[in-house]
Amino acid sequence: MRVLDVITKKRDGLVLTDLEIKYLIHAYTNDEIPDYQMAAWLMAVFFKGMTVEETASLTMAMATSGNMIDLSAVSGIKVDKHSTGGVADTTTLVLAPLVAAAGVPVAKMSGRGLGFTGGTIDKLDAIAGFKTALKPDEFIHNLQRHNVAIIGQSADIAPADGKIYALRDVTATIESIPLIASSIMSKKIAAGADKILLDVKVGNGAFMKSMEDAVMLAETMVHIGQLVGRETRAVLSSMDEPLGQAIGNSLEVEEAIAILDGRGEQALRHVCLFLGAQMLNMAGLESDVKVGYENLNTLIKNKAALHKFKEFINAQGGNVDVVDNPKALPQAKIETKVICSEEGYIQKIDAAKLGYCAMRLGAGREYKGQEIDLSAGIILEKRVGDHIEKGQTLCTIYANNEAKIKEVQSLLVDAIKIDTKQVPKTNLILGVVD
Ligand code: URA
Ligand code: CA
Repeated sequence: MRVLDVITKKRDGLVLTDLEIKYLIHAYTNDEIPDYQMAAWLMAVFFKGMTVEETASLTMAMATSGNMIDLSAVSGIKVDKHSTGGVADTTTLVLAPLVAAAGVPVAKMSGRGLGFTGGTIDKLDAIAGFKTALKPDEFIHNLQRHNVAIIGQSADIAPADGKIYALRDVTATIESIPLIASSIMSKKIAAGADKILLDVKVGNGAFMKSMEDAVMLAETMVHIGQLVGRETRAVLSSMDEPLGQAIGNSLEVEEAIAILDGRGEQALRHVCLFLGAQMLNMAGLESDVKVGYENLNTLIKNKAALHKFKEFINAQGGNVDVVDNPKALPQAKIETKVICSEEGYIQKIDAAKLGYCAMRLGAGREYKGQEIDLSAGIILEKRVGDHIEKGQTLCTIYANNEAKIKEVQSLLVDAIKIDTKQVPKTNLILGVVD
């Protein structure tokens, strides 16, 4: 087989065979194909697309390019949850202990944040001592014992995706539905869960800006799951305004604790309960998702989920004290309130801009490997649809550097639109694809 023929075929809009795709991915992972040929192929895919069968072949070729985790030693149906990424998307920190408390094993592999989106592994770093680099046997052991374990993605999980993603990043080929779908699904399949729940974010703070693209991505991933024998379901949820009130690592851990303790804002709680109910349903624990939702709500009210969070932190070596005393999390030296200068209703909170501001404060990375400030971030006081008075606090900035606070203050005011017109609250759950 010749690489040139595979590139030519895709350039001409023809359908590649499973064998051709396997060959290409295998050879590229083994450094037998140069970046320029892979880049040409990726650009051909960007313009000509792929059938769902081709996308499933690509997914499996990438999934099997490294270690495939075997979770068969853990009893029960393992359901993985994965978000396509957003701002103040604190769901994993809430869902993992919550669903584990309900009896479903949560085996989760998470990433670090990049750009304006956060990552669960960075958030867990805010808990002193917390270890996310568990060895495979520790991961399995924790799952067997505690029903929950979260690890960072290691280099030997879907290495082909790691190499291709880095190339896509510098060749303007990220925004392709077959490439995104196969990238996400390859990692989920290699991570070993039996079933996969995807939280596909839609809106200005997400990869998919339009509902049309989000549905297409969701349908593609669900279809890949069917073709490769891993039941997959996708929830479409809004990322037009930040999901939670906190953006930033320590601040998001603190918000997750509040939600698990039955406090905290309604929006994040609702999305967590909705996703959790889908997970219970997929695991075969509760056929009625409305009942599942209420059962999970009960585990919050009776503190079982909060207790599970402590158990989970302890099992991975973290400082459990943070749960009862969130001030034990890294704290910023400077706190500055942004005051509202007009009365009206919150029309729009631009999630992408808020994420950018948090990143500039130090909560996120502009480039891979950059050190971040775990204490930095923003707490929003209002949501879209809320009324606000002149002189009330719009949001609070947490940082360790005055210059950075100055820089983001006007950007924040600009990102939050206020007008006299009354507007409805954001509809958070936009659909389910299965
Ligand atoms: N997340 C991924 O893992 N891969 C993509 O291509 C896009 C988002
Ligand atoms: Ca008034």
